[in-house]
Amino acid sequence: MKIIRLNLKERSYPIYIEDGSISKCGCILKKLNIGKDAVIITNHKLKKILAGKVKKSLVKHNLSYKFYTVPDSEKAKSFQSCLNLIDKISKYDNRKQIFLIALGGGVIGDLTGFVASIYKRGTPYIQIPTTLLAQIDSAIGGKTAIDLPAAKNLVGAFHQPKTVIVDPKILKTLPKRQLTSGLSEVIKYAVIKDKALFSFLNKNHKKILSLNKSAIELIERKCITIKSKIVEEDEQEKKGIRTILNFGHTVGHALESAGGYKRYNHGEAIGLGMVCASEIAFNLKLLSRENLNKIINTIKLFRLPHKIKGINLSKIIPSLIKDKKFIRAKNRFVLPTVIGKVKVIKDIPEVVIRKAILKHILPN
Ligand code: NAD
Ligand code: GLY
Repeated sequence: MKIIRLNLKERSYPIYIEDGSISKCGCILKKLNIGKDAVIITNHKLKKILAGKVKKSLVKHNLSYKFYTVPDSEKAKSFQSCLNLIDKISKYDNRKQIFLIALGGGVIGDLTGFVASIYKRGTPYIQIPTTLLAQIDSAIGGKTAIDLPAAKNLVGAFHQPKTVIVDPKILKTLPKRQLTSGLSEVIKYAVIKDKALFSFLNKNHKKILSLNKSAIELIERKCITIKSKIVEEDEQEKKGIRTILNFGHTVGHALESAGGYKRYNHGEAIGLGMVCASEIAFNLKLLSRENLNKIINTIKLFRLPHKIKGINLSKIIPSLIKDKKFIRAKNRFVLPTVIGKVKVIKDIPEVVIRKAILKHILPN
């Protein structure tokens, strides 16, 4: 099994990548020795698809289990879901040695991680990510959060998982729209750090979209390695290194929130955010027109939206200002300079931001 180790002293952990690794979760957990009683947080749909494999493996290794389900939408990242879960977990946790398992995409991963961070001032948890986005990004690095009506991820904590089990085969049941959403974060990694990955994506888009095993494993390994290295260098985003993972997220989060978390899913919004950030970089003469076009064309190639529909600027700007990446009311954008390199630029004139976003809004 391919193992990438994320090194953070006592918070270090292995990330397992292999087709079928979900069926080995019991064995991995037994060796980890983090508890005997698994609380698996998932949704109804994923429980139907994946519970059997997880149960079988846990039972084989003498681990007890309990499943709790949450609604299948971004709305699950709420205080209400948290309270419901904590209430149930505390009733179940009667002289048990519990640990949590996040079995799902980024929504379930972020929520479970947050519950684990606050329950008993920190309970062990592991991630079994089931979307491409979660496998290459959200399950790794210990950022956990829930949303507030005002903005996404406003309440959260850093709490590292004890391991991440990535099973690329699980992606077979993923709806196409969710697959392309994850590919948006893959494009993000390529633009911020890896020119060779960017070329690979452009040359192999058909294979990737049809879930060719070796193409998917390659992009997963590359992205997980990039993310792990960045997290190792700046676990809590205090040195301005981890910040580069937010390329596309400033406008992206504003679009998700302005669209009521319905119009665009996370990856689609990030794709549009990358288009707008690249346009800002071009307008500030940091990025060439050729590279701007390459970024937009790659987003198109993976069938992600590249024009904003049905949300006007007057809705986007207030959401943008509420984003937590704005520091002391000053904006902060991750902007590409060439493919594979980005810069963090602060305090960009609002007129430049407005102009760039407006250029990519489709007229009603
Ligand atoms: P998601 O968790 O909502 O999952 C997308 C949909 O796919 C859901 O309907 C889910 O039920 C379904 N699904 C998941 N796996 C499936 C499978 N194998 N087969 C069939 N259906 C499946 O969406 P997401 O894109 O994974 O995550 C988005 C969330 O992740 C956002 O809340 C975002 O803020 C968060 N995020 C967090 C980080 C981080 O570092 N913590 C990074 C990026 C994104
Ligand atoms: N997805 C952004 C981060 O992990 O920092």
